[in-house]
Amino acid sequence: MKRSKVKELLSMQAGGDVLAKGWVRTKRGNKEIAFIALNDGSTIRNIQIVVDKNETTEPVLARISTGACIAVEGKLVESVGSGQSVEIKAGNITVYGECDPMRYPLQKKDTSFEYLRTVAHMRPRTNTFGAVLRLRSQMAYAIHEYFHSKGFVYLNTPLITASDCEGAGQMFQVTTLDLNNVPKNKKGLPDFTKDFFGKQTSLTVSGQLEGELGATALGEIYTFGPTFRAENSNTPRHLAEFWMIEPEMAFYDIQDNMDLAEDFIKHLVKYALDNCIDDIQFLNDRYDNELIERLRGVIDTQFVRLPYTRGIEILKEAIANGEKFEYPVDWGTDLQSEHERFLVEKHFGKPVILTDYPKDIKAFYMKQNEDGKTVRAMDVLFPKIGEIIGGSERESDLQKLEQRVEELQMSRKNLEWYIDTRRFGSCPHSGFGLGFERLLLFITGMQNIRDVIPFPRTPKNAEY
Ligand code: 4AD
Ligand code: MG
Repeated sequence: MKRSKVKELLSMQAGGDVLAKGWVRTKRGNKEIAFIALNDGSTIRNIQIVVDKNETTEPVLARISTGACIAVEGKLVESVGSGQSVEIKAGNITVYGECDPMRYPLQKKDTSFEYLRTVAHMRPRTNTFGAVLRLRSQMAYAIHEYFHSKGFVYLNTPLITASDCEGAGQMFQVTTLDLNNVPKNKKGLPDFTKDFFGKQTSLTVSGQLEGELGATALGEIYTFGPTFRAENSNTPRHLAEFWMIEPEMAFYDIQDNMDLAEDFIKHLVKYALDNCIDDIQFLNDRYDNELIERLRGVIDTQFVRLPYTRGIEILKEAIANGEKFEYPVDWGTDLQSEHERFLVEKHFGKPVILTDYPKDIKAFYMKQNEDGKTVRAMDVLFPKIGEIIGGSERESDLQKLEQRVEELQMSRKNLEWYIDTRRFGSCPHSGFGLGFERLLLFITGMQNIRDVIPFPRTPKNAEY
């Protein structure tokens, strides 16, 4: 008999013979009858298996406990109990894998998220991580679908690179040099000409620069892949390995860029509500009663668009009126997430797109404004999260770009291929990067970014 997934079984009409396979969530019952809640990961919901002890050989039942993996053949019947429309009246039961209750690592009393991160094989079997991981997968699908429906080309950019896109020097080096015996050049520095690629290379912090080469040829592209940052920040919003979606569009100015970012993120939130409500409802009921309301709120509202300079004024006014922040607010410094969240959650009560940041706190590639001080940057700030998207219109003027590279003392040699886009048929263009895990934090309502990725990578932590 063909196996049916629990999700399918729960929407089937009662009557037929079925085969279900999965992991036991609970077993309870009395002398006559046993009830097994079975889950196979296809849905947050379990199918109830009803076992008549008079018809089933006891040894099989005795081998079944929470966590065991079993296959059940039986009849799909209408359920008398509340909570489900159908259940399986068990016939033959096969035990694939027993689960010793004494050694089972998932005891009810200790299922804190910190603990679960230490039991890699159990974590995805919990309701919470099942929901989060299904949502993650659905969102990835929705992202591809969104861009494909708009005719964007999916471009794969390299993970190993010789350029530091964000210029923040937070890169993990990639080398095959023997670290115990590094060859040195005349200056006494490591001789990277002897390295695998013949030059110094790292894991990428962003696919943007290569993405721009795609956009200035194919028109509209997006990337979706892992990125790596060796920033030593142990916060609930930073990972050393995270996934980013980076669309890049020829002929878009910053207004078009903001329009796309707003439409994109609203589409994703709406997709989650329309297609994943079971999982979202579970997370809402279990952890965060305002989750669904917050998600709906984003879809129905128009994001605020606010220049950085005005944002600083608002924050200073707030301080004058008694608001307390840990970090100072000064024109020219980067906003901390407490500032971002004040603007979004307290002042406006909706997402804010902050634009026109001081050029000195933003990357070299951003288009410079006429004032000589600010650049056409745009950060999308979200409730509970802070920055969820970072982007900009790009500097398309060859001389201005070259000048900025020089000012920042970046290595020209590794950037000529990029600067060429401005040399040969330069065009106005824009793009942004959405942090996939930050999006998932918002959609799931989880508090810690480590809990929206299957295998988190953070400082001092690379298990599994
Ligand atoms: O603002 P960022 O650094 O922008 C870029 O990398 C641009 N090259 C994007 C572009 O214009 N194509 O990063 C973009 C987003 C942030 O807004 C945030 O959501 C996420 O990536 N992000 C992180 N997510 C998790 N952990 C980290 N350490 C992150 N750093 C950035
Ligand atoms: Mg940023």
